[in-house]
Parts: sequence; structure tokens; C-alpha cells
Amino acid sequence: MNIVFMGPPGAGKGTQAEAIVEQFGIPHISTGDAFRLAMKQGTELGKLAKQYVDSGKLVPDEVTIGIVRDRLQQDDCADGFLLDGFPRTISQAEALDEIVRDMNRKIDHVINLAVDRSLLLARLTGRRICKSCGATYHVLFNAPKQEGLCDKCGGELYQRSDDTEEKVGTRLDEYISKTAPLLDYYSTQGLLRQINGEQDIADVTKEIAMLIRGQQQ
Ligand code: AP5
Ligand code: MG
Ligand code: ZN
Repeated sequence: MNIVFMGPPGAGKGTQAEAIVEQFGIPHISTGDAFRLAMKQGTELGKLAKQYVDSGKLVPDEVTIGIVRDRLQQDDCADGFLLDGFPRTISQAEALDEIVRDMNRKIDHVINLAVDRSLLLARLTGRRICKSCGATYHVLFNAPKQEGLCDKCGGELYQRSDDTEEKVGTRLDEYISKTAPLLDYYSTQGLLRQINGEQDIADVTKEIAMLIRGQQQ
């Protein structure tokens, strides 16, 4: 099963991906996570990505496409993959079409998590992430059992540097101008599936899992 998650910043792509990859045993490929890891490690890629990620702008297409092309060739993607945060521009979507075609594969579903803009700021400014395992929490909507600590591994929770009100504004503008046009792109291809991302986290997971199992269109 080859799946793409779409949706504005804070829609719940990462949260849902954590649950879905556990159920379906496919790798979770997040370009945002890849950039944050490279930034933490201080690699050349990390230095380049930092100036974009920290300002809320998209990293240039040629950089991002190269990362995804390499990642999808790895053995663990043989039975499928879940892309979270890629593609984000029409050029990236065209490149992905070519990459999967070259692998004699196809995208099965593009799942859009629809959430009204008015809800996104609160979701993002309250988000906390585990430093050790990457699990996502929210101080109000998905609080850890013990404040500041991960339920799964006990790791310390931190706040992303781009989760400030100002940067969320830039990220939403980037989404609207560059990424939202992809909804038409995938709708025309008959691949777009809409999910109401404003429901409780567990209900969203249930809907996505049913859709993937083919129990609902
Ligand atoms: P990325 O890391 O992908 O950030 P994003 O798209 O802005 O998305 P988020 O991770 O912020 O949101 P999410 O949908 O994963 O929400 P989450 O599940 O965490 O990208 C970061 C940066 O990297 C970009 O700005 C860009 O610079 C660069 N980049 C990445 N990909 C790129 C690409 N393809 N091209 C170019 N540049 C790229 O949930 C958010 C919060 O809400 C959490 O606290 C969660 O607990 C809570 N929550 C989730 N679901 C619910 C719910 N149903 N109800 C209540 N709360 C909920
Ligand atoms: Mg995410
Ligand atoms: Zn953890």
C-alpha cells in the first residue's frame, strides 16, 4: 500500500502516521523529520535546510525530491510506504509520479486531513515532541501522563522551533500558495480521499484505517 498524507501544518499527519504505520507495518517517511534530523546532526543538508525550516518556508524542490527518491529505493519500502509532508509542490508531485512509475508502482491513496485554519494555531503552539522517539503530544488535546515526559519511552518533550505564532503564519501561507493546488492535481487523478481531521485523534485513525482496508471510499 503506497500512501500519501496531505493537509495543512497541524492537521495531524504525523500523529496519524504513527498509528497507521503501527497497524500496517509500512515505513513512515516524513520529509520534515528528515530535515530536523539532519539539522540536529549538523550535516550539509541540515545547514541548508535550517534556513528554510526555521523561517517556515519550503526547502527547494531539487533537495527534497532527491531525499525522497533515495528513501523510496530502500528495502523497507518494498511492501509500501506512507509519505507525510511530501509532495508539497506540483513539481514534487510530478517527480513522485515519475519515481513510482520507474519502480513499477503506483500511489494507492492520497489522504487529505481537512482541518479548518482556525484550529491549527492552537494545535501547533501546544504541540510537544519526544526528543528520543519522536512521539507527538499536545499539552491540552493529547497530554502525556506526566508533564514534559514521553509515555512511550520516558524521553524529554520539546517544542519545535517553527511552532511559534509568527512562523505558523508563514507555514500556512506557503501551504495555501504552493501545496493546496495539489488537491486538484490528485482529485483529477482520482486519488484524493477526504478525511475530517477535526474529529478525535482515535476516530480519525479509525476512518483512515477503514479507507486503507477498502471498507469505505
Ligand atoms: P513538517 O514537519 O512536515 O511540518 P508541517 O507540514 O508544517 O506539518 P506539521 O508536522 O506541523 O503538522 P502535522 O500535520 O504533522 O500535525 P501533528 O500530527 O504533529 O515540515 C516542517 C518544515 O520542513 C516545512 O515548513 C519545510 O520547511 C520543510 N519541509 C518538509 N517537507 C517539505 C517538502 N516536501 N518540501 C519542502 N519543504 C519541506 O499534530 C499537530 C498537533 O495537533 C499535535 O500537538 C497533536 O497532538 C495535535 N493533534 C493532532 N491531531 C489532533 C486531533 N484530531 N485533535 C486534536 N489535536 C490533534
Ligand atoms: Mg508532522
Ligand atoms: Zn518517546
